[in-house]
Amino acid sequence: MEKLGMNEIREKFLSFFESKGHLRLPSFSLVPKNDKSLLLINSGMAPLKPYFTGKETPPSRRVTTCQRCIRTPDIERVGKTARHATFFEMLGNFSFGDYFKKEAIPWAWEFVTEVLKLPVDRLWVTIYEEDDEAFEIWNKIVGLPPERIVRMGKEDNFWEIGTGPCGPCSEIYFDRGEEKGCGKPDCGIGCDDCDRYVEFWNLVFTQFNKDEQGNYHRLPNPNIDTGMGLERIAAIMQGVDTIFDVDVIKGIRDFISDLAEVEYGKDADKDVSIRVITDHIRGITFMISDGILPSNEGRGYVLRRLLRRAARHGKLLGLNDAFLYKVVDSVVENYGGAYPEIIERKDYIKRIIKLEEERFKETVDQGLAILQDYINELKAQGKTVLEGAKAFKLYDTYGFPLDLTKEILQESGITIDEEGYKEELEKQRIRARSSRKEDNSLWEQDIYSTLGDISTKFVGYEVYESEAKVLAIVKDNEVVEQAEAGDDVSIILDVTPFYAESGGQVGDSGVIEGEDTLIKVNDCKKVGDKFIHIGTVERGLISVGDKVVAKIDVLKRKGAARNHTATHLLHKALKEVLGDHVNQSGSLVAYDRLRF
Ligand code: ALA
Repeated sequence: MEKLGMNEIREKFLSFFESKGHLRLPSFSLVPKNDKSLLLINSGMAPLKPYFTGKETPPSRRVTTCQRCIRTPDIERVGKTARHATFFEMLGNFSFGDYFKKEAIPWAWEFVTEVLKLPVDRLWVTIYEEDDEAFEIWNKIVGLPPERIVRMGKEDNFWEIGTGPCGPCSEIYFDRGEEKGCGKPDCGIGCDDCDRYVEFWNLVFTQFNKDEQGNYHRLPNPNIDTGMGLERIAAIMQGVDTIFDVDVIKGIRDFISDLAEVEYGKDADKDVSIRVITDHIRGITFMISDGILPSNEGRGYVLRRLLRRAARHGKLLGLNDAFLYKVVDSVVENYGGAYPEIIERKDYIKRIIKLEEERFKETVDQGLAILQDYINELKAQGKTVLEGAKAFKLYDTYGFPLDLTKEILQESGITIDEEGYKEELEKQRIRARSSRKEDNSLWEQDIYSTLGDISTKFVGYEVYESEAKVLAIVKDNEVVEQAEAGDDVSIILDVTPFYAESGGQVGDSGVIEGEDTLIKVNDCKKVGDKFIHIGTVERGLISVGDKVVAKIDVLKRKGAARNHTATHLLHKALKEVLGDHVNQSGSLVAYDRLRF
């Protein structure tokens, strides 16, 4: 078996499926579009759902991608096991109503045995128990003996995630050899006690669409959705025991060891910390690159949780100052070839991470001391459950994500009253929502201040229309990379003719136009040097970096400007006569009568 690098495997997969008539698309953002069932993209097919259901027309009926993904349900196991990760890449080939099982199965086999040259005697497959068609193809067309084709139930071989396209699946396993097994008499595919048999490719025969109520509807055309874990196949190809020993990932692992001056492989606890950071920093880098910012809600919270968990493990390694932002250099070095966007956004990513690390550091020592007091108190009372309100206080005041508190408590055999915690959290959400309503400006300013030193040049005294570049987009109080028709957005441009609301004069309205994009701007505000164009995407997509034309509504401006000058003059005149007793609305009425 050839030792292939992870970057090489990615390339071989994509070009193999190109040779089978597939269109290669770049990885989609980690932020799902128009999919309320998902917080983060967690599989290759997730961003393609509209193509599977027929809601949108794909650019080709055969597509291949390497998709960056985040999955966090097993976050507590990351670092402790060989295979768990929150960030991973998924290689996939997809058919949107084009080919089906008869092609997908033999192609998978061809790739595995002829391109990767995995030894046939190490390969096993599973199928959904009722899927005789898949059995026939594996057995008759591929030529796999029946004892190598294992039938499994819905639990294992029916793939669905959230709502949307789903169906029975067939998985390919690699046998790492007897010496990696647990030796139990019933050890085999799916063994829970060892890692001898590793599943690395899942072929899903997407035949149904699952609705919000949980009903399955047969799709008009069956589809193919496959997913191969890039890190897993790389570990197999490189003959290593964990994904943290795979070349590209090891590059980051070594960087962290060097930074902490801790040799890997010498101390089991320290190794866990190195692995946690190695995993999390990849997700953190890509999440920020995709426009997510640390926050206390939604995907921003997932990011904060990863970041703070990694920071805490850094502390366990003796890295007391902000350090994660430095590790980004290593992520960019190892992943930049496949994902050039992280090269471009490196400085921005590092700035956000450093800011969050510093914020965390300010409170973490205090928080840890308080947590230690709680532990001592509980021990003295012979109790083993921490009150929800206390865990919440650690989260709310000291920025400790719940899982971090849990993890620290676990070491002393203490658990948390999670129901109580959730109640406190809900109360806080309600408080936050109402205070946000009262003071929207503060909230907004906070978001814009995290964007760093971008600024807008105002050219609106000279021109009404100007070419510009999109520097940032904010949607639903989150910084995003892209917005689409129907979205309410705030857009920051590098140059603008839009006058921003100030000193009683209203902001300009108008449009921002791209090649296929139209944004209706209803208002413009200024935060620091940034001009925020507030409006709605009427047509197409708008992305950071897009070249656009910004045009103001000239009639409105002229009216406002005249109004402004007139009011000003009138104020001056009236002030001379009436002193300080000038009433603004009175003067406007007067202005209307005067008709300049
Ligand atoms: N969507 C399938 C998976 O993620 C291929 O396993």
